[in-house]
Parts: sequence; structure tokens; C-alpha cells
Amino acid sequence: GSAVFSGIQPTGMPHLGNYLGALRQWVKIQDEAPQDARLIFSIVDLHAITAPPRDGHGKGEWGAGGGGAAGTLRRYKREALAVLMAVGLSEERCTLFWQSDVPAHSELMWILSCQASTGMLSRMTQWKDKSAKEGAPNQRLGLFSYPVLQAADVLVHGATHVPVGEDQSQHLEFARYTARAFNNAYPLSPSSSPPVLREPTTILSPHKRIMSLTTPTSKMSKSDPQGAKSRISVISSPEHIRKSIRSALTDMQSDRISYDPETRPGVSNLLDIFNSFDKEARTPEVLAEEIEDIRTLKHETAEAVVQGLAGVREKYLDIMERENRKYVDRVAAEGAEKARKSADETMRKVREAVGLGGKC
Ligand code: TYM
Repeated sequence: GSAVFSGIQPTGMPHLGNYLGALRQWVKIQDEAPQDARLIFSIVDLHAITAPPRDGHGKGEWGAGGGGAAGTLRRYKREALAVLMAVGLSEERCTLFWQSDVPAHSELMWILSCQASTGMLSRMTQWKDKSAKEGAPNQRLGLFSYPVLQAADVLVHGATHVPVGEDQSQHLEFARYTARAFNNAYPLSPSSSPPVLREPTTILSPHKRIMSLTTPTSKMSKSDPQGAKSRISVISSPEHIRKSIRSALTDMQSDRISYDPETRPGVSNLLDIFNSFDKEARTPEVLAEEIEDIRTLKHETAEAVVQGLAGVREKYLDIMERENRKYVDRVAAEGAEKARKSADETMRKVREAVGLGGKC
């Protein structure tokens, strides 16, 4: 049967880029998928620790379960899981879990890393960007091998489809390549039987890349050094959404609107955002024709976003309060149970194909 897998890092509150590039697509898939399709969405905390630990200064609104960096990670993990439910994923229909609760992800990662190409890893744009910032002597292995863990995430559940934003497509190309390398290294007999690892298909969101509001030439990111002004979190209040969009960087070229992501990244980003929430589904080009000036564009974009995210904030707050704040942890525990079963199936085959574990 088919299986969908995707993940999101718990490195901060999910934002409009995550929503349009991924989360909204996940909900759509849930609503349209055949009943027997497995739908698996993970909060990937093992990936999150490739970034330097962050001390969240104080415990945050919900109590962090410990201070310091560990407390911050725990808080982000809970928040991210609550957001998945708040945007409309059903904890019954889907498997929602924290990656580190399922050790098979790490185990398969090691096995895959014995086939993974370091040449290919060194060509990953995310590695090139992030490692350049850190400087050669401080480059860390986890950041380099990050895509191997991502490949394990997808392959360990036998995923057939992986819905992501454009920035992840290179990592998924790597996952397919690595699956092929594994299958070639460990062919089955009879040779007609399906290979141990399935190569998944990438499903790219139609809203591929939402850009930062303060630096519209780089993508909207949870870790943008420009901070909260650069992004709109999915649980922003209407006032906050309006304020952020009002102060979004555009340009002085002309007060007339035109859609050209190359020369007018700020204006075009707002048109993209507007388009993605527009009830009449007008293209950015059509919107550019219809809208008078930048002030109107900002106003109407903000209203479209406010409507598009209506209810998410309230649902999120409600979920965080449920069962005396323990509901999210319970969902995660139940999700982990389901995810361990799903991963076990693949791991049995992998161990047998390689000659690891169990009987000799
Ligand atoms: P992460 O946490 O950076 O982002 C989660 C999802 O949001 C999409 N996204 C965006 N889409 C459009 N515009 C943006 N500005 C934007 N920012 C983020 C991402 O494409 C992603 O779909 N490595 C992954 C997490 C991961 C994963 C996996 C994904 C780990 N294992 C296995 C798929 C399958 C990441 O860092 O996503």
C-alpha cells in the first residue's frame, strides 16, 4: 500500500513558509488519501540538534520541563506537535510522533551511511550554506550526514510519497540514490522479489518557497537572524499578522505593482502569499494587475492571511491546555508506538538482508 512520510524540525514555532510549503499540503493529502494509506508525520528532534543548542531564556508560557537547551527543545517539540493538530491533522488518522522515540531511524541511518556517497553529501546546498558559515575547523559531522538521517526517516517507513517544500528536494534525491545504493549492495534472491528499500516520490507543494519578510531574497526560516520580524508564525494573532505584513520590506521602484521575483522580490513574495490564500485563486500576475499600489497590496495580503489562518491559533491554545497540558505528550506516545511498529517491518528485512542481528 501507499505511505506518506514527512517531517518538520522543532527549532521554533512553524511559520507561513512551513504552512504553505508543507503543512497545508499534508492536511490536503490526509483529506484525499485512500483509507488504507499510512500517513506518518514526524517532529524530527534528532535533526534539530544539528543546530547549536539554544537556551530559550526562561521557560516560556507552557513550562518547559527543565531549563536550558533541553527545556527549549522539549518546548519546541510540544509546540510543533500541537501545531500539526491545530492546522488539521488528525491524531487518529495519522501517525504523529517525535523522531527520537523511534530508535530505528538512527539504526537505519548508520546502515545507510555505509553506502551513502560523501561526494554527493558534500554537494548538498544546505551543507554548503551552513558549513560555510561555521568555518572549516568547526564543521560538524552531524550537519554533514544530516541527509542520511533524513533518508532513513523516509525509507524506514517504506514511504511512497514525501510532501515537502522546494528546499528539501535535493535531500530526497539523495534519499532515492542512497536507497538504490543499498538495494544494489544487498540484492535479494530470487532477484524478482521487490528490493528491501522503496524509492519514494517527492510531492512538491505548489507554494514552493515563501521568502523572509525582512530579506525577501532568502527563504522564510525559523532560524533567520532577523528574528520574529522576518516571519509570520502560524499562531500569530490577527494584529500581529497585519503589523508584520505592513512592515514587510518591498522596494522603491514604483508604487505600481508588478510580479517579478528576480527584480522585485519583496512585492512578489507578498503576491505569492496573497495568491496562496486567495479564494478566487487569482495568479500573482493577475493580482498585480488588479491591485492599485503597495499599501493596498499589503492590506489585502494581510487580510487574506488572517482569514487563511483563522482558527489555528485558538485550536492550538486549546490543544495545549487539554488534559492539564498532558494531551500532546499522550498523542506523541501513541504515535511513537505506531511508528515503531511501522519501522520494525522494514528493519527486519534490512537486518536480514545485511546479516545483522538475530539468528546466524
Ligand atoms: P524544516 O523543518 O526546515 O521545514 C519543514 C517543511 O517546511 C518547508 N519549508 C518551506 N516551504 C516553503 N517556503 C519556506 N520558506 C519554507 N521553509 C520550510 C520545508 O520544505 C519542509 O517541507 N529536513 C527537513 C525535515 C525532515 C524531513 C525528513 C522532511 C527531516 N526528515 C523526511 C521530509 C522527509 C527540514 O529541515 O524541514
